[in-house]
Amino acid sequence: MFKINDNFLKLPGSYLFSTIGKKVAEYKKANPDKTVISLGIGDVTLPLAKAVTEAMHRAVDEMGSAETFRGYSPDLGYEFLRKTIIENDYNSRNINLDIDEVFISDGAKSDCGNIVDIFAVDNTIAVTDPVYPVYIDSNAMAGKTGDYDKDKQAWTDVIYMPCTAANGFVPEFPERTPDIIYICCPNNPTGTTLTKSELQSWVDYANKNKAIIIYDAAYEAYISEPDVPHSIYECGGAKTCAIEMRSFSKNAGFTGTRLGFTVIPKEIVATEPYGEVTLNSLWARRHGTKFNGAPYIIQRAGEAVYSEEGKAQTKEQIAYYMKNAATIRDGLTAAGYEVYGGINAPYIWLKTPGDMTSWDFFDLLLEKANVVGTPGSGFGPSGEGYFRLTAFGTAENTVEAVERIRRI
Ligand code: MLT
Repeated sequence: MFKINDNFLKLPGSYLFSTIGKKVAEYKKANPDKTVISLGIGDVTLPLAKAVTEAMHRAVDEMGSAETFRGYSPDLGYEFLRKTIIENDYNSRNINLDIDEVFISDGAKSDCGNIVDIFAVDNTIAVTDPVYPVYIDSNAMAGKTGDYDKDKQAWTDVIYMPCTAANGFVPEFPERTPDIIYICCPNNPTGTTLTKSELQSWVDYANKNKAIIIYDAAYEAYISEPDVPHSIYECGGAKTCAIEMRSFSKNAGFTGTRLGFTVIPKEIVATEPYGEVTLNSLWARRHGTKFNGAPYIIQRAGEAVYSEEGKAQTKEQIAYYMKNAATIRDGLTAAGYEVYGGINAPYIWLKTPGDMTSWDFFDLLLEKANVVGTPGSGFGPSGEGYFRLTAFGTAENTVEAVERIRRI
């Protein structure tokens, strides 16, 4: 008789954004006359940049011609894209990487979820709280998080590092030493950041404790302040302890196109009791076995993001979203809300009014303002009492949503 992976049975409810999607669909069905504005999931609204679609068209033509047709992509990514990434994202910041330290994938979400494959079950993970739910759910599916405590809304074996207004959204070193530390900077969901020296102290901590940092830099393109690092490898010693994940979804609108990459320096070595094993070799083995490479057309599109036109056009898109962020920040601040984020990230994190729970505020906004956001508690226990709005809507909808929220 077959058996299932019963770790799945421990997961509370469905994936956060599926739950929200269902609630909103029900509301719309019951209220067909209402115009609902979604500032919930961080999905982009601007079309792909011209430089990107032109590159895709060229690649489509290549695929349609016998001379230039390509079958399977190299499983770890085409050299043209890996090279372009290294030159633009890393060499430009004085970071050297070998081409085989960059792994192309179909997006950072997949990489965040799949990276658990290369770590043992008995690693203790530490997450900032609130946190992007994929880090926890994927570890839970692999049986690495203990049990879910419904009262505490937390997993028994996970170290939660609260990030709230009280500590300036900067995680403190936990009492129990973790093996794997997840850091997302700029942060999803709070939109806040760490300074270079704060991140350096985490790198030092990880090296001292032989821990790994899984660094999610999906929102790096939104950084506007000089003291916020764009890559963890700007910190000394990061190459011996940090894996970095990047996405094309937020900097170039690839949410529906799917492309991302993970950097695993070869200096990260597991020693006792294995002899010497690099995480890079494990991930290469995993990628080669379970992934057949991102499509050629999409990798050419990704390459075009780094062309002169691509850079200029995606910069404009980022500026558009950050103008939305300012609209939300300023509008809600003026309305008396306590507001965070939105300066180096396309997310605004606000305190719910009075003692309202995050989900009560979600219902209030949906019903009274017909605006969808994301309840902070969906991101972890320390997210209770907070609420997230995304700046990825259209400018018109963003202005209208802020007006409606102000009116209630
Ligand atoms: C979010 O809304 O948190 C993100 O869009 C989710 C994601 O990037 O997968």
